[in-house]
Amino acid sequence: MSHALNQVNTADTISPSSPAAQPEAEFQSTGDISGPEPEAITLARRKIRSESMSEQLSERLAHMKLPQPERLFGPDEGEIIDLDDLDGDDGDAGVAPDAWDKIKLDDEVPESVRTGRMTHSRNASRVDSASISRPPPILEASEQPEKAKPVEAAREQKITPFDVAGEVDAAGKDLGINYDKITAQFGASKISSELLERFEKVTGQRPHPLLRRGTFFSHRDLNTILDRYEQGKPFYLYTGRGPSSDSMHLGHLIPFMFTAWLQRVFNVPLVIQITDDEKYLLERDIKKQAETMKKIKGKKPIDLLRHYQRMATDNIKDIIACGFLLEKTYIFQDTQAMGGTFYQNVVLFAKTVTLNQSKNVFGFGDSDNIGMYHFAAIQACPSFSNSFPQIFGDRTDIPCLIPCAIDQDPYFLLTRDAADKLGYQKPCLVHSKFLPALQGAGTKMSASNENTAIFMTDDAKKIHKKIRSHAFSGGRATQEEHKRLGGDPDVDIAYQYLSFFEDSDEVMEGLARDYRAGTLSTVEMKDTCIKKLQEVVAEFQKNRAEVTDETVKQFQDATRTIDPSPRKTA
Ligand code: TRP
Repeated sequence: MSHALNQVNTADTISPSSPAAQPEAEFQSTGDISGPEPEAITLARRKIRSESMSEQLSERLAHMKLPQPERLFGPDEGEIIDLDDLDGDDGDAGVAPDAWDKIKLDDEVPESVRTGRMTHSRNASRVDSASISRPPPILEASEQPEKAKPVEAAREQKITPFDVAGEVDAAGKDLGINYDKITAQFGASKISSELLERFEKVTGQRPHPLLRRGTFFSHRDLNTILDRYEQGKPFYLYTGRGPSSDSMHLGHLIPFMFTAWLQRVFNVPLVIQITDDEKYLLERDIKKQAETMKKIKGKKPIDLLRHYQRMATDNIKDIIACGFLLEKTYIFQDTQAMGGTFYQNVVLFAKTVTLNQSKNVFGFGDSDNIGMYHFAAIQACPSFSNSFPQIFGDRTDIPCLIPCAIDQDPYFLLTRDAADKLGYQKPCLVHSKFLPALQGAGTKMSASNENTAIFMTDDAKKIHKKIRSHAFSGGRATQEEHKRLGGDPDVDIAYQYLSFFEDSDEVMEGLARDYRAGTLSTVEMKDTCIKKLQEVVAEFQKNRAEVTDETVKQFQDATRTIDPSPRKTA
């Protein structure tokens, strides 16, 4: 192409301020804005080509109010979110508990889809929105999770896919997440012991420790899935991950291990969405983004997008190592796989959601980019079976079960409503709690802090060291005191991590009993946990070593047909 045009295209020429003047921001400086070219820029380009009016050009550019460099990458997040300002008229702060009753999904159906020609029943969907519209029920103290004293929360918790903040008391003390409250607020149901019994009866499988011990604690329509399994009717599993760091830790992979287990129990197809697009669009932390750009020596937005695409590929290998059945699993990366009937569904979905709903449900504001608003459609549509013609042909009547963390629920609340409007099946869900970091309940595993989590690349020695020196202990300060007063397994991280994997209830109960009695020491508890984690991680690493680029290709092959029929031997 024309040399002159290329020159004009370089970031330096079009940047509002000379990069030389701000070496810090050099990597951010770019003129590569995608989308239609404003007429003023076209004019400017012509001018510069004539190479006679560069002075005038910079004048003009200065008057064009071009976005500041960071705004080319994402929304301006200069504003600080005021948690107290949850009055609902400013979407920035996410769904405040009492703002949920303002979200009336059904009342806001865009005219275009309010045709009444759909054959579906809207009633079921009302159940959801109705339970949201009601003020959250006041929970009796006895219903509060774990021996919680009924503490007054001075600041309510806030849960959206982008912000998770627990309750805070009047003194500013973190009270953590109240899961019973979320379930009630979201209009979901707690997983009861009756439901677990039914699960066991129908599948002939003992529920996974993560189900039995309440990490997966809440659901929507799990009974529907069990009905179908009982009747031999097809359904599938859907889950996903936003690629966010090169090295995945136990917290990232536990949900996938659980999903792999579910897939084996049900022997059904599974689709896994890798949302590289989401990570690009929704990175609201400008500082973090700038750091990433610096690290990858990125110059243009597309360099950042490519970074997330690369991470997606790495993450897929780790995910595969969790043990999915190749012949029943399709893994796809959004920026590569979007098209066909999947995109068709994205279009259908997008028309069912108004800007207001998206603002209310996700807490977006007017300065958020339009991709964020639209992304809900991308995460929603794998819930519809005809998005995957290689598995389900054009059938739209096959529901899915989505295992996900509770913060992802708002996406699927919209999806369930849209499913009704579109005459599709509503997705069913099982929700998990957030997994605590080594430092204890209420702390977060962080990919950038080595000592907060067990990474899947850690060797046996490292696991030993991390648990021994960083796992929060429910034991007493001295051995003597521990023997006399006993420890608290409920807050003990070693005990908790062990409970994710140890299948035997007897073993767990024994450990808890002896710990409380003071006859089992902290070191003994930790060493039991270490042994288990070493096994789990070693098995993962063995699987991971066998995952080649070729394996990844096979899992990602959209042309590979998958047999959707249930209950065939693997
Ligand atoms: N948004 C999720 C994340 O950030 C990724 C995701 C996409 C997902 N589709 C999903 C998670 C379905 C659970 C279920 O990690």
